[in-house]
Amino acid sequence: MSKKTLPRPASRYFYPWPIVLVTTIDNSGKPNIITIGASSICSSNPPMVGVAIGTAQYSLSLIEERGDFGVNLPRAGQVYEVDFCGSRSGRTVDKFETLGWTAQESSIITSPLIQECPVSMECQLRHSLQLGNHTWVIGEIVAVHVEEELLGADGSLDLAAAEPLISGWGEYFSLGEKIADWHYSRTSPR
Ligand SMILES: Cc1cc2nc3c(=O)[nH]c(=O)nc-3n(C[C@H](O)[C@H](O)[C@H](O)COP(=O)(O)O)c2cc1C
Repeated sequence: MSKKTLPRPASRYFYPWPIVLVTTIDNSGKPNIITIGASSICSSNPPMVGVAIGTAQYSLSLIEERGDFGVNLPRAGQVYEVDFCGSRSGRTVDKFETLGWTAQESSIITSPLIQECPVSMECQLRHSLQLGNHTWVIGEIVAVHVEEELLGADGSLDLAAAEPLISGWGEYFSLGEKIADWHYSRTSPR
């Protein structure tokens, strides 16, 4: 199969992106949500997560003011709410109120979490790195909240039941079928 070299390099050909909802709060106490496609785990010990936020985004100014943020993982069935939070600015809209979502108080950080999302993480800002038109904010995960039904006795997460929302450039998808366990090739022939 031949590959075409594109006339210009572009980030949109990197896929897929797990969609996350980053939560913040302003100085008047109004909470906000931004939809983020560009995110990654950056370290497992200590646990760190990074999200790329456009330099002009309202949410970036709130994270830099507060020094913390929430990372919430939506279900595929919450795609409308995800798209809403990615299509309007908290400068002019109260997204929690409009969507009827609950801003849940965090246990450590000042930013709230989304009660309706199955997984929420409290993150303290550790690094901020401006790269072109986005700034990567990297936070240490200082607390994690997971819906009990998703957890096995050993603390493992039932990923299929969490129904993550996946994206490529411009399109939403849900998770496909599980195909194998990590490291299965150590014991199974091809
Ligand atoms: C699916 C999707 C993914 C997005 N990914 C990002 C992203 O990674 N970084 C970013 O800065 N904006 C991203 N956006 C755009 C912001 O969510 C959007 O500009 C939002 O209205 C900003 O909210 P705020 O002004 O309340 O901060 C995305 C939007 C959608 C719909």
